[in-house]
Amino acid sequence: MDKPVQQSSTGEWDRVWVNANLATMVAAHDGVSGYGEIKDAALAVRGDRIAWMGSSAEALARARSQDVAVTDCGGAWLLPGLIDCHTHLVYGGSRVEEFEKRLCGVSYEEIARAGGGIQSTVNATRAATPESLLESATVRALRLMDEGVTTLEIKSGYGLELSVERRLLEVARELGRRLPLSVRTTYLGLHALPKEAAADRAGFVKQVSGPWLEALAASGLIDAVDAFCENIAFSVAETEQFLHAAQRLGVPAHVHAGQLSDMGAAELAARFGALSADHLEYLSAPGAAALAGAGTVAVLLPGAYYMLRQTTPPPVPFLRQAGVALALATDCNPGTSPCTSLLLALNMGCTLFGLTPHEALAGVTRHAARALGLQTDIGTLEVGKRADFALYRIDRPAELCYALGANPCASVVYGGVAR
Ligand code: NIG
Ligand code: FE
Repeated sequence: MDKPVQQSSTGEWDRVWVNANLATMVAAHDGVSGYGEIKDAALAVRGDRIAWMGSSAEALARARSQDVAVTDCGGAWLLPGLIDCHTHLVYGGSRVEEFEKRLCGVSYEEIARAGGGIQSTVNATRAATPESLLESATVRALRLMDEGVTTLEIKSGYGLELSVERRLLEVARELGRRLPLSVRTTYLGLHALPKEAAADRAGFVKQVSGPWLEALAASGLIDAVDAFCENIAFSVAETEQFLHAAQRLGVPAHVHAGQLSDMGAAELAARFGALSADHLEYLSAPGAAALAGAGTVAVLLPGAYYMLRQTTPPPVPFLRQAGVALALATDCNPGTSPCTSLLLALNMGCTLFGLTPHEALAGVTRHAARALGLQTDIGTLEVGKRADFALYRIDRPAELCYALGANPCASVVYGGVAR
């Protein structure tokens, strides 16, 4: 390349990475290059920010004259740190027995209605100590991080009582303090009706939307809320009550929408200007248009679709046509997606949902950032953004979507520091 692409006004660098191919993931304007590629390039950081991007030759000359530390990437591809924007990472127990049952012909809905499913994880989670929750969540987070994940969204929702929901959110925050990883927490207040509330749905929704939400928000434990709007979970009216309460407190929303049926949850998410509507296997064209109008990101979760052996994929053509931003995530959870590989989710997004590799990679970078409301800070390689990035030993970016079970991640930089 012959000219620097972006330059910071201040000349100071702490470190520079040279001899890399950058996939900046900045939205293409030329309609040709989908990854925002800059070949044989360099990227410099100052503090925790990207300070400069340009040619390796220029970077090397400048680094020599200013005595800046240089890392030679040996031709590796450098991408923005990956963002897993939908997980239920903190939970107790396992659901392997349910997996066995499903393979003997019992459906997810039948298991849920018989008091298993989410409720069985709630029982195991309530019985777990904070230490054991932190330990098991750390194992899962490290696996995601090994592939280049630098930002992780974590939902509560397996406590379903205030003290345990609080514990899950505290464990999630603690994970973010202990690991070189940005954690965003979501209060999934309406996930399932706990057995002790079976006789009083309305009372439960009122508690979740009122005192529990207020207490957790006041403790600074939540970045967003979420609800499972579904025939086996909560109705549109119940979800609406919760979203109203969050809106009054200025807390943004995600919605589990259209996973098993189309109840109009996507339209509801759009009405509230939700950051994201997630799953969306069952979505109408007007639903897709509503998401587009609201700027709500569609978060697609192929791991859950695969594990539940669903056969109706999200209507990606409608979503594309409507101009909805598409994100991809693991949905890491013990029931429907025991998945700790965002690279596997990339492959599934392509093979099961028909995304192009460019769409899939935008879905775990630029669009995932938007799904968390963090698009000004992360998700692309741009001067001024956080210096979170990962280096991969690959020949072209699509390889990250292509390989099954490979991990070509060579190193990760988090906030300007090699992890
Ligand atoms: O995203 N759909 C609701 N929540 C999770 C599944 C939770 C569970 O089965 O434990 C999901 O698929
Ligand atoms: Fe989920």
